[in-house]
Amino acid sequence: MSEGKFYKKIVCIGAGYVGGPTMTIIANKCPNYKVTIVDISKPRIDAWNSDDLPIFEPGLKERVEKSRGKNLFFSTDVDKEIAEADIIFVSVNTPTKTFGEGAGKAADLQFVELTARRIKENSRSDKIVIEKSTLPVRSAEALEAILHSGNNSVHFEILSNPEFMAEGTAISDMEYPDRVLIGSKDTETGRIARDELVKIYAHWVPKEKLITTNLWSSELSKLVSNAFLAQRISSINSISAICEATEADIGEVAFAVGKDTRIGEKFLQAGIGFGGSCFRKDILNLVYLCEYYQLNEVADFWKQVITINDYQVNRFVKRMLRAMFNTLVGKKIAVFGFAFKPDTGDTRDTPAIYLTRQLCEEKARLSITDPHALENAKKDLDGLKGIEYIEDPYSAAKDAHCIALMTAWDEYRSLDYQKIYDSMEKPAFLFDGRNHLDHQKLFDIGFNVFPIGKPPLLHH
Ligand SMILES: NC(=O)c1ccc[n+]([C@@H]2O[C@H](COP(=O)([O-])OP(=O)(O)OC[C@H]3O[C@@H](n4cnc5c(N)ncnc54)[C@H](O)[C@@H]3O)[C@@H](O)[C@H]2O)c1
Repeated sequence: MSEGKFYKKIVCIGAGYVGGPTMTIIANKCPNYKVTIVDISKPRIDAWNSDDLPIFEPGLKERVEKSRGKNLFFSTDVDKEIAEADIIFVSVNTPTKTFGEGAGKAADLQFVELTARRIKENSRSDKIVIEKSTLPVRSAEALEAILHSGNNSVHFEILSNPEFMAEGTAISDMEYPDRVLIGSKDTETGRIARDELVKIYAHWVPKEKLITTNLWSSELSKLVSNAFLAQRISSINSISAICEATEADIGEVAFAVGKDTRIGEKFLQAGIGFGGSCFRKDILNLVYLCEYYQLNEVADFWKQVITINDYQVNRFVKRMLRAMFNTLVGKKIAVFGFAFKPDTGDTRDTPAIYLTRQLCEEKARLSITDPHALENAKKDLDGLKGIEYIEDPYSAAKDAHCIALMTAWDEYRSLDYQKIYDSMEKPAFLFDGRNHLDHQKLFDIGFNVFPIGKPPLLHH
């Protein structure tokens, strides 16, 4: 028994989009464990301890409230919590490096290394240290070297347990995961640590979904999973360009192709491209890994996934420009949605950022609307002039020359588009970057409609 009524004490370092929700679910499902999430950001921890959580995720608030103060705690006292922990999850951010060797590709591991050093300094008893962050292959080796450096007699056992949840569906992804992956060393202490982690997940995850592998396979599988998902999106988006050139319909093509059970129907929705904090970063990380091992053909293959993603936004802007008489100067464009996907307020690497920047270069005026991401949008676009941030989509579209739909929020389907059309400049254009709306209905109202990968519906 770790302390009083609890079997073990879990500490998670990093209270972000992954640390917060994953540990909340562990606390919900394992009342016999004390779970504490720590972070160096006091505003973040204060928000987790308040009614206004720092991230928007459907179903999260109820689950936090269920366990907070009982076996779920949020704290900035990183050192004390590390000292008392039996099991430590590392869930800090691992962005793409922006400087020095590997800039623009390799993962920036400074936060992970600082965390490892802090764990080492504050540990007086043996601990299991779990990589929850997405890390390059063989990171566990580096972590171990740091943790076991000097003359510390404490034993650290490193596990890899990458997170596969997707923002927007994080809660159901964690409560009903497709699989949980645990990588460990094939040693006696490695197997004991692995079994401790299996014991936690076994509270709610069926045994057949708990996959155990060696450390390197686990680290690599996370990068490969994201690379495959992103590659599906770039594959269908590349075909959307062919559809626009040939008058084939991407919806019909995707349906026909997806019916092949070897291919499957999921992740075949064409759109403006992927975003979020992970896909681009993890592919770049994979590319860097390939180049490091001089697997240049493999690196080039995966680079192309990102090239197509960037191309998709560039194409979209060119299409807008061409449709709107080759000039956007002074025209008002209403951007519907800024989050990288619906049901999240996260705007990291959202295609809307690239679109907005390009439209500003064309000297357009922008009004951006989003139900949950406006605060993040303001930070992302800080310094750009001519942008209004408006919560109400009707006001955002008033006097606009066109609407560019960037995020497939459900509520955008049920807006009164007749009212919106009536308030806009004419001819009114709608560019649907997610093929999310009823295009025929919009056309009948009077809009010139530009879907992705389908012929436009034009009044002239
Ligand atoms: N966001 C996702 O959908 C997702 C999904 C799967 C995996 N991942 C991976 O999980 C990791 C975390 O991602 P995230 O989206 O939660 O990031 P995030 O930026 O939302 O959260 C990271 C948190 O770590 C904190 N932190 C950084 N250094 C610290 C330190 N030394 N001590 C204490 N706290 C520290 C930051 O203040 C921040 O609150 C990344 O490696 C990411 O690739 C993310």
